[in-house]
Order: sequence, then structure tokens, then C-alpha cells
Amino acid sequence: MFKRKKKAENSLEGLTVPQHVAIILDGNGRWAKKRGLPRNLGHAQGFATVEKTVFHAADLGIKYLTVYGFSTENWKRPEEEVTGLMNLFRKYMKRLLKTALENDARVLMIGERSRFPQDIIDGINELEEKTKQNSRITFTIAINYGGRDEITRAVNKLIAEAKDGSLTGDVTEEVISKHLDTKLIPDPDLVIRTSGEQRLSNYLIWQSAYAELYFTDVLWPDFSKDDLIEAVRYYSSRDRRFGGLSKK
Ligand code: IPE
Ligand code: IPE
Ligand code: MG
Repeated sequence: MFKRKKKAENSLEGLTVPQHVAIILDGNGRWAKKRGLPRNLGHAQGFATVEKTVFHAADLGIKYLTVYGFSTENWKRPEEEVTGLMNLFRKYMKRLLKTALENDARVLMIGERSRFPQDIIDGINELEEKTKQNSRITFTIAINYGGRDEITRAVNKLIAEAKDGSLTGDVTEEVISKHLDTKLIPDPDLVIRTSGEQRLSNYLIWQSAYAELYFTDVLWPDFSKDDLIEAVRYYSSRDRRFGGLSKK
């Protein structure tokens, strides 16, 4: 029997799909509060949404998906919430290895990882190593990530290389990009933030210089495939000039 496609799926036709989508997943706490639940249940639901979103992104032909899981500023939160988040990472990482291997997804982590417990660091290294040949989608998780921290670490790496003689020539934008945590992935084309906040909160501040920005009131745990398609549709309608003139 003839099956009608859902409206949002139909509307993907003719759209320009961004190569790299970066998401500031926000609103887990408010999602839980609205339901009278503890914040960490909102985070658990948020992780489930991340898992689904990787598949949705791959289905839509997005080659790079990067999500903001924990910022350098999130350590300010109550210890109970931070510990809860670490435990969720642990559980999620184990599932992620299996699903990434089954679905040809490469997994990368950006951020300063030395502050995490050793078993989490080992888990991250294993994920990166075992998925490095996968190519359907590159899924990057930013944890203990801050754009300023990343740039500061890059500057210190450059100073060390200048001292030991391995840095030859001038420091160009390209050289800086190659010293950032994101050296293996292109700059984001589209940055999505959920929950109605309209700020970058220290996310990919160097890399987002020319990204299109999309804000939605949807709280992260409720973010669906249709919401992602809506963001792609918005992206597709933009005229990206990069400082030049319109080609349209
Ligand atoms: C985003 O949800 C996830 C993290 C920052 C870890 P929040 O926890 O910031 O949720 P709200 O903003 O309090 O609703
Ligand atoms: C940004 O969200 C960090 C992550 C999504 C991991 P926050 O909820 O921490 O940001 P602010 O404090 O509202 O700017
Ligand atoms: Mg928040």
C-alpha cells in the first residue's frame, strides 16, 4: 500500500543540508523541573535524546554532529549534579561504543579531559581508537570544553613548539585551527541552541565565526527529528556570504 511520507520528511527535498551541525543542548534541568523530577533525570533523558539525534543526523546526510555535553563552567554546579553527570557519561560511553561500531560512526571528544576520572579518560580513548576508521558520521562530544580554554591551550602548545624548534614559520589562522581540539573536523555550518537561550556560552567560539545560528524554545529532551529538520530548513534558507556578495 502507498505510504505517505511525513510532512517534515517531504520538505527535506531540495534543501541544502549542512555538513557540520553543532548543538548546544540546553534545558534538561527545566524539562525535569516542569515534571517535578530531579535535574539528573532531565540529564538522563537528555542523553537518550543525544543518542537518537546522532541517528537522525546521519539519516539526513549530516556528516559531522558535535554536541556540548559539559562546559568548563559547569563544574560550578552542585556536586550531586556533577557526579550524576559523570555517572551518566560512564553508562552512555559503553552503549555508544557498541552503537557507533554497528552504525559506522566515528566518535571524538573535545575539551580538556585530564580533569575526568581515569576510567572515563580510558573510555574516551577506547571510543576514539576503535571508531577511527568509521565514516558515515563523525560524532563529537564536547566535555569539560570551553572555547576560551581551548584557545588558551592552543597558544601554550604553540609557545612550547616555538621553544623546541618544531614550529617553523608564522602563526596563521590555519596553524591556530590545527592546534585546537577540533583539528580533525571542519568548522560548524549551523549552531543550534535549544531552550530559548540565545548565547554561545563559550561553545566553539573560534570555529563558529561564520556559522548560521538557530534558536528554538524546545527543551533538549524533547528535541525530535522534525525539530532537526526545521533547523536544517532554516539553514537552507540562509544566504551565506562570508563577507562577500550574494551569489543568489
Ligand atoms: C543542559 O541542560 C545540559 C548541561 C549543561 C549539562 P541544563 O542542565 O543547563 O538545563 P537548564 O538550563 O538548567 O534547564
Ligand atoms: C551550556 O549550557 C553548556 C552545555 C550545554 C553543556 P549552560 O546551561 O551551562 O549555559 P548557561 O549557563 O545558561 O550560559
Ligand atoms: Mg542550561
